[in-house]
Amino acid sequence: MSPQHPPRGSIAVVLGTRPEIIKLGHVIRLLGDATSIVHTGQHYDASLSSDFFDAFQLPAPDHQLGVGGGSRGAQIGSALQALDELFLKTEPAAVIVQGDTNSAVAGALAANARGIPLVHVEAGLRSFDRRMPEEHNRVIADHLADLLCAPTATSRSNLLAEGISEERIVITGNTVVEAVTSLLPDASVRRSLLAEFNLEPGEFILSTFHRPENVDDLHTLRTILDELARLPKPVVLPLHPRTAARAGRDLATSKLLGQLRVVEPLPYPAFLGLSAESAMMISDSGGVQEEASVLKRPVLVVRRSTERPEVIGTFAERVEVGPDMGTTALAWLADLPALHEKLGAIASPYGDGTASKRTVDAILELLADSGV
Ligand code: UD1
Ligand code: UDP
Repeated sequence: MSPQHPPRGSIAVVLGTRPEIIKLGHVIRLLGDATSIVHTGQHYDASLSSDFFDAFQLPAPDHQLGVGGGSRGAQIGSALQALDELFLKTEPAAVIVQGDTNSAVAGALAANARGIPLVHVEAGLRSFDRRMPEEHNRVIADHLADLLCAPTATSRSNLLAEGISEERIVITGNTVVEAVTSLLPDASVRRSLLAEFNLEPGEFILSTFHRPENVDDLHTLRTILDELARLPKPVVLPLHPRTAARAGRDLATSKLLGQLRVVEPLPYPAFLGLSAESAMMISDSGGVQEEASVLKRPVLVVRRSTERPEVIGTFAERVEVGPDMGTTALAWLADLPALHEKLGAIASPYGDGTASKRTVDAILELLADSGV
Protein backbone atom coordinates (compact mmCIF):
# COMPACT_ATOMS: atom_id res chain seq x y z
CA MET A 1 0.00 0.00 0.00
CA SER A 2 1.40 3.45 -0.83
CA PRO A 3 2.02 5.85 2.09
CA GLN A 4 -0.56 8.60 2.56
CA HIS A 5 -1.13 11.32 5.15
CA PRO A 6 -2.39 9.67 8.35
CA PRO A 7 -5.63 10.88 9.97
CA ARG A 8 -5.54 13.95 12.24
CA GLY A 9 -4.08 13.26 15.71
CA SER A 10 -3.54 9.57 14.94
CA ILE A 11 0.19 9.43 15.82
CA ALA A 12 0.96 9.95 19.50
CA VAL A 13 4.34 11.59 20.12
CA VAL A 14 5.39 11.01 23.74
CA LEU A 15 8.11 13.34 25.02
CA GLY A 16 9.11 15.03 28.25
CA THR A 17 12.59 16.54 28.25
CA ARG A 18 14.69 19.17 26.49
CA PRO A 19 16.62 16.82 24.17
CA GLU A 20 13.46 14.98 23.10
CA ILE A 21 11.79 18.23 22.00
CA ILE A 22 14.95 19.20 20.07
CA LYS A 23 15.24 15.88 18.27
CA LEU A 24 11.54 15.41 17.54
CA GLY A 25 10.87 19.04 16.56
CA HIS A 26 11.24 18.54 12.81
CA VAL A 27 9.58 15.11 12.85
CA ILE A 28 6.50 16.67 14.46
CA ARG A 29 6.52 19.56 11.98
CA LEU A 30 6.71 17.18 9.01
CA LEU A 31 3.87 15.00 10.32
CA GLY A 32 1.80 18.14 11.00
CA ASP A 33 -1.78 17.59 12.14
CA ALA A 34 -1.31 13.79 12.11
CA THR A 35 0.41 14.11 15.50
CA SER A 36 -1.01 14.27 18.99
CA ILE A 37 1.72 15.57 21.33
CA VAL A 38 1.78 14.03 24.80
CA HIS A 39 4.11 15.84 27.24
CA THR A 40 4.87 13.74 30.31
CA GLY A 41 5.95 16.81 32.30
CA GLN A 42 9.31 15.24 33.22
CA HIS A 43 10.86 18.63 32.44
CA TYR A 44 8.48 21.32 33.59
CA ASP A 45 10.50 24.59 33.76
CA ALA A 46 9.86 26.79 30.71
CA SER A 47 13.64 27.00 30.19
CA LEU A 48 13.79 23.22 29.61
CA SER A 49 10.43 22.74 27.93
CA SER A 50 8.08 25.38 26.50
CA ASP A 51 10.99 27.56 25.29
CA PHE A 52 11.95 24.64 23.02
CA PHE A 53 8.39 24.25 21.72
CA ASP A 54 8.57 27.94 20.83
CA ALA A 55 11.99 27.63 19.15
CA PHE A 56 10.68 24.89 16.81
CA GLN A 57 7.31 26.70 16.44
CA LEU A 58 5.48 23.62 17.65
CA PRO A 59 1.86 23.70 18.80
CA ALA A 60 1.31 23.35 22.55
CA PRO A 61 1.06 19.71 23.70
CA ASP A 62 -2.36 18.11 23.26
CA HIS A 63 -1.97 16.29 26.58
CA GLN A 64 0.05 17.12 29.72
CA LEU A 65 0.69 14.32 32.20
CA GLY A 66 2.52 16.34 34.89
CA VAL A 67 4.77 13.56 36.21
CA GLY A 68 7.96 15.62 36.80
CA GLY A 69 10.10 15.89 39.90
CA GLY A 70 9.79 12.37 41.35
CA SER A 71 12.11 9.37 41.41
CA ARG A 72 12.78 7.37 38.26
CA GLY A 73 10.31 4.68 39.26
CA ALA A 74 7.63 7.22 40.15
CA GLN A 75 8.11 9.08 36.84
CA ILE A 76 7.92 5.90 34.75
CA GLY A 77 5.05 4.45 36.80
CA SER A 78 2.80 7.50 36.76
CA ALA A 79 3.50 8.27 33.09
CA LEU A 80 2.78 4.64 32.15
CA GLN A 81 -0.55 4.63 33.98
CA ALA A 82 -1.62 7.98 32.50
CA LEU A 83 -0.56 6.91 28.98
CA ASP A 84 -2.39 3.59 29.32
CA GLU A 85 -5.64 5.43 30.09
CA LEU A 86 -5.03 7.96 27.32
CA PHE A 87 -4.26 5.31 24.67
CA LEU A 88 -7.37 3.34 25.66
CA LYS A 89 -9.42 6.46 24.91
CA THR A 90 -7.59 7.82 21.85
CA GLU A 91 -6.44 4.56 20.16
CA PRO A 92 -3.40 6.00 18.33
CA ALA A 93 -2.26 4.23 15.14
CA ALA A 94 1.37 4.53 16.26
CA VAL A 95 3.43 5.91 19.15
CA ILE A 96 6.74 7.73 18.68
CA VAL A 97 9.36 8.00 21.43
CA GLN A 98 12.91 9.35 21.24
CA GLY A 99 16.14 8.54 23.02
CA ASP A 100 16.63 7.13 26.51
CA THR A 101 14.73 9.13 29.10
CA ASN A 102 12.18 7.97 31.65
CA SER A 103 9.52 9.53 29.40
CA ALA A 104 10.71 7.49 26.41
CA VAL A 105 10.61 4.19 28.29
CA ALA A 106 7.15 4.97 29.72
CA GLY A 107 5.88 5.75 26.20
CA ALA A 108 7.39 2.51 24.88
CA LEU A 109 5.86 0.37 27.63
CA ALA A 110 2.45 2.02 27.23
CA ALA A 111 2.41 1.44 23.46
CA ASN A 112 3.44 -2.17 24.00
CA ALA A 113 0.79 -2.74 26.66
CA ARG A 114 -1.95 -1.62 24.25
CA GLY A 115 -0.48 -3.40 21.21
CA ILE A 116 0.18 -0.12 19.35
CA PRO A 117 3.05 0.00 16.80
CA LEU A 118 6.05 1.71 18.42
CA VAL A 119 8.63 3.90 16.68
CA HIS A 120 11.94 4.55 18.47
CA VAL A 121 13.86 7.55 17.16
CA GLU A 122 17.61 7.51 17.93
CA ALA A 123 17.66 3.74 18.40
CA GLY A 124 20.70 1.55 18.98
CA LEU A 125 22.94 3.84 21.04
CA ARG A 126 24.88 1.87 23.65
CA SER A 127 27.29 3.02 26.36
CA PHE A 128 27.60 -0.59 27.61
CA ASP A 129 27.55 1.07 31.03
CA ARG A 130 24.88 -0.55 33.18
CA ARG A 131 25.32 2.09 35.90
CA MET A 132 23.41 4.60 33.73
CA PRO A 133 19.59 4.61 33.92
CA GLU A 134 19.59 5.75 30.28
CA GLU A 135 21.30 2.52 29.14
CA HIS A 136 18.43 0.46 30.56
CA ASN A 137 15.81 2.85 29.18
CA ARG A 138 17.20 2.70 25.66
CA VAL A 139 17.59 -1.09 25.65
CA ILE A 140 13.96 -1.52 26.72
CA ALA A 141 12.66 0.97 24.12
CA ASP A 142 14.71 -0.68 21.36
CA HIS A 143 13.51 -4.19 22.12
CA LEU A 144 9.86 -3.10 22.24
CA ALA A 145 9.99 -1.00 19.05
CA ASP A 146 8.49 -2.10 15.73
CA LEU A 147 10.43 0.55 13.81
CA LEU A 148 13.92 1.49 15.02
CA CYS A 149 15.42 4.64 13.50
CA ALA A 150 19.16 4.18 14.02
CA PRO A 151 21.27 7.29 13.49
CA THR A 152 24.42 5.52 12.27
CA ALA A 153 25.78 2.18 11.04
CA THR A 154 27.30 1.71 14.50
CA SER A 155 23.93 1.98 16.21
CA ARG A 156 22.42 -0.45 13.66
CA SER A 157 25.23 -2.96 14.43
CA ASN A 158 24.51 -2.66 18.16
CA LEU A 159 20.88 -3.62 17.50
CA LEU A 160 21.74 -6.54 15.23
CA ALA A 161 24.19 -7.83 17.86
CA GLU A 162 21.27 -8.00 20.33
CA GLY A 163 19.22 -10.08 17.92
CA ILE A 164 16.84 -7.36 16.71
CA SER A 165 15.78 -8.27 13.19
CA GLU A 166 17.08 -6.07 10.40
CA GLU A 167 13.59 -5.56 8.90
CA ARG A 168 12.71 -3.44 11.96
CA ILE A 169 15.76 -1.15 11.58
CA VAL A 170 16.32 1.82 9.28
CA ILE A 171 19.40 4.06 9.29
CA THR A 172 18.15 7.65 9.23
CA GLY A 173 20.99 9.84 10.50
CA ASN A 174 20.36 11.91 13.62
CA THR A 175 17.66 14.59 13.55
CA VAL A 176 19.93 16.83 15.61
CA VAL A 177 21.69 17.83 12.37
CA GLU A 178 18.66 19.66 10.97
CA ALA A 179 17.80 20.98 14.44
CA VAL A 180 21.20 22.71 14.49
CA THR A 181 21.23 23.93 10.90
CA SER A 182 17.70 25.35 11.12
CA LEU A 183 18.12 27.14 14.46
CA LEU A 184 21.77 28.29 14.53
CA PRO A 185 21.58 32.11 14.58
CA ASP A 186 23.31 33.98 11.73
CA ALA A 187 26.58 35.88 12.17
CA SER A 188 24.99 39.22 13.14
CA VAL A 189 22.70 37.67 15.78
CA ARG A 190 25.71 35.77 17.12
CA ARG A 191 27.64 39.04 17.42
CA SER A 192 24.80 40.54 19.47
CA LEU A 193 24.71 37.41 21.60
CA LEU A 194 28.43 37.67 22.36
CA ALA A 195 27.98 41.36 23.25
CA GLU A 196 25.07 40.49 25.55
CA PHE A 197 27.25 37.97 27.41
CA ASN A 198 30.33 40.22 27.24
CA LEU A 199 32.34 37.57 25.37
CA GLU A 200 34.85 37.60 22.52
CA PRO A 201 34.60 35.04 19.67
CA GLY A 202 36.80 32.00 20.34
CA GLU A 203 37.85 33.39 23.72
CA PHE A 204 35.59 31.40 26.03
CA ILE A 205 34.63 27.86 26.93
CA LEU A 206 31.01 26.67 27.02
CA SER A 207 30.22 23.99 29.58
CA THR A 208 27.22 21.95 30.75
CA PHE A 209 26.94 19.30 33.48
CA HIS A 210 23.88 17.38 34.61
CA ARG A 211 24.66 13.61 34.72
CA PRO A 212 24.03 11.96 38.11
CA GLU A 213 27.58 10.45 37.99
CA ASN A 214 29.03 14.00 37.90
CA VAL A 215 26.67 16.16 39.94
CA ASP A 216 24.99 14.00 42.58
CA ASP A 217 28.18 13.47 44.60
CA LEU A 218 29.41 16.82 45.96
CA HIS A 219 33.10 15.89 45.96
CA THR A 220 32.91 14.97 42.25
CA LEU A 221 30.95 18.11 41.42
CA ARG A 222 33.45 20.31 43.28
CA THR A 223 36.38 18.64 41.45
CA ILE A 224 34.73 19.40 38.10
CA LEU A 225 34.00 23.03 38.99
CA ASP A 226 37.52 23.49 40.34
CA GLU A 227 39.02 22.15 37.09
CA LEU A 228 36.81 24.55 35.09
CA ALA A 229 37.74 27.51 37.30
CA ARG A 230 41.47 26.94 36.69
CA LEU A 231 41.20 27.23 32.91
CA PRO A 232 42.76 30.31 31.28
CA LYS A 233 39.57 31.42 29.51
CA PRO A 234 36.16 32.38 30.94
CA VAL A 235 33.84 29.40 31.33
CA VAL A 236 30.14 29.96 30.61
CA LEU A 237 28.03 27.40 32.49
CA PRO A 238 24.28 27.32 31.81
CA LEU A 239 23.19 25.57 34.98
CA HIS A 240 20.89 22.54 34.67
CA PRO A 241 18.30 22.50 37.50
CA ARG A 242 19.58 19.13 38.74
CA THR A 243 23.07 20.64 39.17
CA ALA A 244 21.67 23.87 40.62
CA ALA A 245 19.65 21.94 43.20
CA ARG A 246 22.73 19.95 44.29
CA ALA A 247 25.11 22.93 44.40
CA GLY A 248 22.69 25.35 46.01
CA ARG A 249 22.66 23.41 49.28
CA ASP A 250 26.47 23.49 49.69
CA LEU A 251 28.53 26.59 50.45
CA ALA A 252 31.88 25.34 49.05
CA THR A 253 30.24 24.32 45.76
CA SER A 254 28.40 27.64 45.49
CA LYS A 255 31.73 29.43 46.02
CA LEU A 256 33.29 27.49 43.13
CA LEU A 257 30.32 28.38 40.93
CA GLY A 258 31.07 32.02 41.74
CA GLN A 259 34.34 31.69 39.77
CA LEU A 260 32.47 30.73 36.58
CA ARG A 261 30.02 32.62 34.37
CA VAL A 262 26.93 30.80 35.58
CA VAL A 263 23.74 31.53 33.63
CA GLU A 264 20.23 30.07 33.47
CA PRO A 265 19.66 27.24 30.94
CA LEU A 266 19.74 28.97 27.56
CA PRO A 267 17.15 28.89 24.78
CA TYR A 268 18.26 26.56 21.98
CA PRO A 269 19.30 29.18 19.38
CA ALA A 270 21.36 31.08 21.98
CA PHE A 271 23.07 27.88 23.15
CA LEU A 272 23.90 26.93 19.56
CA GLY A 273 25.17 30.45 18.85
CA LEU A 274 27.51 30.35 21.85
CA SER A 275 28.62 26.80 20.97
CA ALA A 276 29.59 27.92 17.46
CA GLU A 277 31.53 30.93 18.79
CA SER A 278 33.26 29.08 21.63
CA ALA A 279 36.89 27.97 21.71
CA MET A 280 35.75 24.56 22.91
CA MET A 281 33.09 22.88 25.02
CA ILE A 282 33.34 20.76 28.15
CA SER A 283 30.24 18.73 28.87
CA ASP A 284 28.60 15.48 29.91
CA SER A 285 25.68 16.02 27.52
CA GLY A 286 24.78 13.55 24.81
CA GLY A 287 23.33 16.10 22.41
CA VAL A 288 26.27 18.50 22.76
CA GLN A 289 28.64 15.76 21.48
CA GLU A 290 26.55 15.44 18.33
CA GLU A 291 26.14 19.18 17.85
CA ALA A 292 29.91 19.65 18.10
CA SER A 293 30.24 17.63 14.89
CA VAL A 294 27.86 19.95 13.04
CA LEU A 295 29.30 23.18 14.48
CA LYS A 296 32.91 21.96 14.07
CA ARG A 297 33.92 22.72 17.64
CA PRO A 298 35.84 20.33 19.93
CA VAL A 299 34.12 18.94 23.02
CA LEU A 300 35.73 17.39 26.05
CA VAL A 301 33.33 14.70 27.28
CA VAL A 302 33.62 14.25 31.05
CA ARG A 303 32.02 10.84 31.53
CA ARG A 304 32.81 7.27 32.56
CA SER A 305 31.47 6.07 29.21
CA THR A 306 29.90 7.36 26.03
CA GLU A 307 27.17 6.02 23.77
CA ARG A 308 28.41 8.25 20.94
CA PRO A 309 31.69 6.63 19.82
CA GLU A 310 31.30 8.13 16.33
CA VAL A 311 32.81 11.47 17.42
CA ILE A 312 35.58 10.19 19.69
CA GLY A 313 39.01 10.93 18.23
CA THR A 314 37.74 13.75 16.02
CA PHE A 315 35.21 16.19 17.53
CA ALA A 316 35.36 14.70 21.03
CA GLU A 317 37.65 13.15 23.61
CA ARG A 318 36.43 11.43 26.74
CA VAL A 319 38.16 12.10 30.05
CA GLU A 320 37.49 11.15 33.65
CA VAL A 321 36.78 13.75 36.34
CA GLY A 322 40.10 15.18 37.57
CA PRO A 323 43.36 16.64 36.26
CA ASP A 324 42.98 15.06 32.79
CA MET A 325 40.26 17.63 32.17
CA GLY A 326 42.68 20.54 32.54
CA THR A 327 45.55 18.80 30.74
CA THR A 328 43.48 17.99 27.65
CA ALA A 329 41.78 21.39 27.59
CA LEU A 330 45.14 23.21 27.79
CA ALA A 331 46.57 21.08 24.97
CA TRP A 332 43.60 21.99 22.75
CA LEU A 333 43.74 25.68 23.67
CA ALA A 334 47.48 25.77 22.84
CA ASP A 335 46.75 25.34 19.12
CA LEU A 336 43.13 26.25 18.62
CA PRO A 337 43.18 27.66 15.05
CA ALA A 338 44.76 24.44 13.73
CA LEU A 339 42.27 22.31 15.68
CA HIS A 340 39.28 24.32 14.41
CA GLU A 341 40.61 24.11 10.85
CA LYS A 342 41.08 20.35 11.12
CA LEU A 343 37.54 19.83 12.46
CA GLY A 344 36.11 22.13 9.78
CA ALA A 345 37.17 19.60 7.14
CA ILE A 346 35.52 16.57 8.81
CA ALA A 347 31.93 15.64 7.97
CA SER A 348 29.48 14.98 10.80
CA PRO A 349 28.92 11.23 11.29
CA TYR A 350 25.25 12.00 12.07
CA GLY A 351 24.09 12.56 8.51
CA ASP A 352 23.18 15.25 6.03
CA GLY A 353 20.16 16.88 7.66
CA THR A 354 17.54 14.53 6.18
CA ALA A 355 17.03 12.29 9.24
CA SER A 356 13.61 13.77 10.11
CA LYS A 357 12.38 13.25 6.54
CA ARG A 358 13.73 9.67 6.47
CA THR A 359 12.12 8.99 9.84
CA VAL A 360 8.74 10.27 8.66
CA ASP A 361 8.97 8.27 5.42
CA ALA A 362 9.66 5.11 7.43
CA ILE A 363 6.74 5.85 9.78
CA LEU A 364 4.36 6.33 6.82
CA GLU A 365 5.52 2.99 5.38
CA LEU A 366 4.92 1.31 8.74
CA LEU A 367 1.40 2.75 8.90
CA ALA A 368 0.64 1.80 5.30
CA ASP A 369 1.78 -1.77 6.00
CA SER A 370 -0.57 -1.89 9.00
CA GLY A 371 -3.45 -0.58 6.89
CA VAL A 372 -3.73 3.01 8.25
C1 UD1 B 1 16.84 13.75 32.28
C2 UD1 B 1 17.19 12.42 31.60
C3 UD1 B 1 18.57 12.52 30.98
C4 UD1 B 1 18.67 13.70 30.04
C5 UD1 B 1 18.24 14.96 30.76
C6 UD1 B 1 18.18 16.10 29.78
C7 UD1 B 1 16.32 10.33 32.59
C8 UD1 B 1 16.68 9.13 33.40
N1 UD1 B 1 17.24 11.32 32.57
O1 UD1 B 1 17.77 13.95 33.32
O2 UD1 B 1 18.84 11.34 30.23
O3 UD1 B 1 20.00 13.83 29.65
O4 UD1 B 1 16.92 14.78 31.32
O5 UD1 B 1 18.32 17.34 30.40
O6 UD1 B 1 15.25 10.40 32.04
N2 UD1 B 1 14.23 19.70 37.58
C9 UD1 B 1 13.74 20.98 37.71
N3 UD1 B 1 12.99 21.47 36.67
C10 UD1 B 1 12.69 20.76 35.57
C11 UD1 B 1 13.20 19.46 35.46
C12 UD1 B 1 13.97 18.95 36.48
O7 UD1 B 1 13.98 21.66 38.69
O8 UD1 B 1 12.01 21.29 34.67
C13 UD1 B 1 15.06 19.16 38.68
C14 UD1 B 1 14.23 18.39 39.71
O9 UD1 B 1 14.83 18.60 40.94
C15 UD1 B 1 14.43 16.95 39.29
C16 UD1 B 1 15.87 16.96 38.77
O10 UD1 B 1 16.01 18.25 38.15
O11 UD1 B 1 14.25 16.06 40.35
C17 UD1 B 1 16.19 15.88 37.79
O12 UD1 B 1 15.26 15.90 36.70
P1 UD1 B 1 14.97 14.55 35.87
O13 UD1 B 1 14.06 14.87 34.74
O14 UD1 B 1 14.55 13.45 36.78
O15 UD1 B 1 16.39 14.14 35.33
P2 UD1 B 1 17.47 14.97 34.51
O16 UD1 B 1 18.70 15.03 35.34
O17 UD1 B 1 16.88 16.24 34.00
N1 UDP C 1 20.98 22.99 25.50
C1 UDP C 1 20.30 24.20 25.42
N2 UDP C 1 20.51 25.14 26.40
C2 UDP C 1 21.37 24.94 27.42
C3 UDP C 1 22.07 23.70 27.49
C4 UDP C 1 21.85 22.75 26.52
O1 UDP C 1 19.53 24.42 24.48
O2 UDP C 1 21.53 25.83 28.25
C5 UDP C 1 20.71 21.96 24.48
C6 UDP C 1 21.93 21.43 23.77
O3 UDP C 1 22.18 22.17 22.62
C7 UDP C 1 21.56 19.99 23.45
C8 UDP C 1 20.52 19.66 24.48
O4 UDP C 1 20.17 20.85 25.16
O5 UDP C 1 20.92 19.85 22.21
C9 UDP C 1 21.12 18.64 25.38
O6 UDP C 1 20.35 18.49 26.51
P1 UDP C 1 20.95 17.79 27.79
O7 UDP C 1 22.43 17.96 27.83
O8 UDP C 1 20.15 18.30 28.92
O9 UDP C 1 20.55 16.25 27.52
P2 UDP C 1 21.30 15.04 26.81
O10 UDP C 1 21.51 15.38 25.39
O11 UDP C 1 22.56 14.79 27.57
O12 UDP C 1 20.33 13.91 27.00
